Amino acid sequence: MLPIATILALALAAQAAPTERAASGSFSIPAVHNVNHVRNGTAAMLKAYKKFNLKPSAEQELSNAFWSELSLSRKRQDGSATASPDPTNVEYLVPVTVGGQTLNLDFDTGSADLWVFSSLLPASERSGHNYYTSSKSSTYKAKSGYTWSIEYADGSGASGSVGTDTVTVGKTTVKGQVIELAKKVSTTFVSDASDGLLGLSFSSINTVSPEPASTFFDNAQSGLDSPLFAAYLPKDADGAYDFGYTDNTKYTGTLVYTDVDDSNGFWEYPSTKYKVGSTSGSMSGYTGITDTGTTLILIGSSAVKAYYKQVSGATNSATDGGYIFPCTATLPDFSFLVGSTHYATVPGSVLNFATAEESGKCFGGIQDVGSGSQNIYGDVFLNANYGVFDASGPSFGFAPFA
Ligand SMILES: *[C@@H]1O[C@H](CO)[C@@H](O)[C@H](O)[C@H]1NC(C)=O
Repeated sequence: MLPIATILALALAAQAAPTERAASGSFSIPAVHNVNHVRNGTAAMLKAYKKFNLKPSAEQELSNAFWSELSLSRKRQDGSATASPDPTNVEYLVPVTVGGQTLNLDFDTGSADLWVFSSLLPASERSGHNYYTSSKSSTYKAKSGYTWSIEYADGSGASGSVGTDTVTVGKTTVKGQVIELAKKVSTTFVSDASDGLLGLSFSSINTVSPEPASTFFDNAQSGLDSPLFAAYLPKDADGAYDFGYTDNTKYTGTLVYTDVDDSNGFWEYPSTKYKVGSTSGSMSGYTGITDTGTTLILIGSSAVKAYYKQVSGATNSATDGGYIFPCTATLPDFSFLVGSTHYATVPGSVLNFATAEESGKCFGGIQDVGSGSQNIYGDVFLNANYGVFDASGPSFGFAPFA
């Protein structure tokens, strides 16, 4: 969790800010590594499958406990089974001030909602979280008749009411930002360390009804020196989000940019080839998205199989619901095309994701995307690469860490 001194300093800074849009055009905010976080490969994979409504591939289904876990949680809809709460999945938290109240949010480039734990939730569901109380904010305005809802295929999700308030991220304040107050959250969120999400995908996939809301980033853009933000998420360490500028002390070489197709609402680009070490292969038909809200890298079955073919002792485990290998194995690097020219490389050293359920085995940072046709490049990609999300264009840029 965040040191109290930091929380206080941020809260005080926010209070001292003038009420008009107070933008300093370039600033960095901490992405605090959650020290209580326990990496769990199976849980990380389940979370991504729920978020993107993915189904296991035929081969995964043959194995597997993973599939039964998904259908177990499906049953929860009609009350015939209860899934155990997932362990905390959120690794990086960013302090954000909403109506003067500090919340630690999960910055998610794979969704567009800014939703927060609120006083509208039953006390038992918000315990352990900071939560937003609209009656304690003089700047809150309700948006009556508006609702929001994030629903996953298994019946889990979050939903609630809608209002506007002043939101401060680092040195940028947006007045009248649409905020979504949780009235209902499923166990996945209750047990997570974050107090809500701050969506950084394109506003088109915002779930507020009857009219979708603009994201914080869309509203803040005009006050930034450049209409972009960058994610710096080093493995097992504190990182940062840089707004309005890119920080060349955090990467090496030159940032390379690729056009983004925002028609699905994501930071999406073609991603049709990969390399395992120096052996290359095709992922034709696949695009890629960069998603800070997903932990793992999830790619098509044939590519994931080709990767683990080069890891001695690797198996697709029924117990773990994904590829595991002896923890002593040396992992090859994995590279993939971002757009049509530039390969991004994720070194083998960051691809040993976590200890697996099977003893002596480790869970891989690269896993199967199942029924998906978008490769999902999550935090494991950004554990070794600085990622730039540029709304002009739009485009996505990256360079390996310095
Ligand atoms: C990891 O997550 C899975 C799925 O939620 C769960 O079944 C398993 O018990 C977890 N493992 C640990 C060690 O917490």
